[in-house]
Amino acid sequence: MKNVELRIAVKEFESKQELPLELQQLLQKAEEATQSAYSPYSKFNVGAAVLLANGEIICGSNQENSAYPSGLCAERVAMFYASAKYPEVSIKAIAVSSAINGQLNENPVYPCGSCRQALLESEMRHGKPIQVLMGGATRVQTVESIKDLLPLSFDLKEFKK
Ligand code: THU
Repeated sequence: MKNVELRIAVKEFESKQELPLELQQLLQKAEEATQSAYSPYSKFNVGAAVLLANGEIICGSNQENSAYPSGLCAERVAMFYASAKYPEVSIKAIAVSSAINGQLNENPVYPCGSCRQALLESEMRHGKPIQVLMGGATRVQTVESIKDLLPLSFDLKEFKK
C-alpha cells in the first residue's frame, strides 16, 4: 500500500480587476447571464459564459422545471449550445457566477459534479484545457483545466485500449 496525494492548483483573485481583461469581460457576461435564469424553485440564479477558440462568447443560465431533474445547470446550457453551434471549436474558458434576488453572491460558485463531467469530456474531445473561472461578487478563483476539478475521473477510453 502507498499513499498518493493529489494536488490541484487554484488561483485566487481578491478582485476581478486582477484578472486579464479578456477574462474580466467573460466573467461580466456570466454575471449578466444570471438575469436570464429560470429558477422559480430554487430561486438561485446561475450564469455561465463560454469563451471559444474562435473568440466567440456563448452564455447560458440555469433552467429549472417542475419535474425537477428535467432542468439543466447554467454551465451545461452554455457549453451544449456552444458545442451544437460549433462542434469543431474547442472551449478556452468558462466563467460561472451566481445571484439571489438580483444580488451576486459573495462566495464563488463551483460547477456541480455533472457539469464537471460534461466539461471534462469536451476538454478531452478537443485536447485543449478549459480554464474555469468561479466568480463571487468580488473574489474569483480559477483553475487552468477542468481536470483540476475532477481528479480520478471516469474515462471509458482507459478500458478500451
Ligand atoms: N446550478 C447551476 O446552474 N450550476 C451549478 O454548477 C450548480 C447548480 C443550478 C441548478 C439549480 O437550478 C440551482 O442552481 C440550484 O441548485
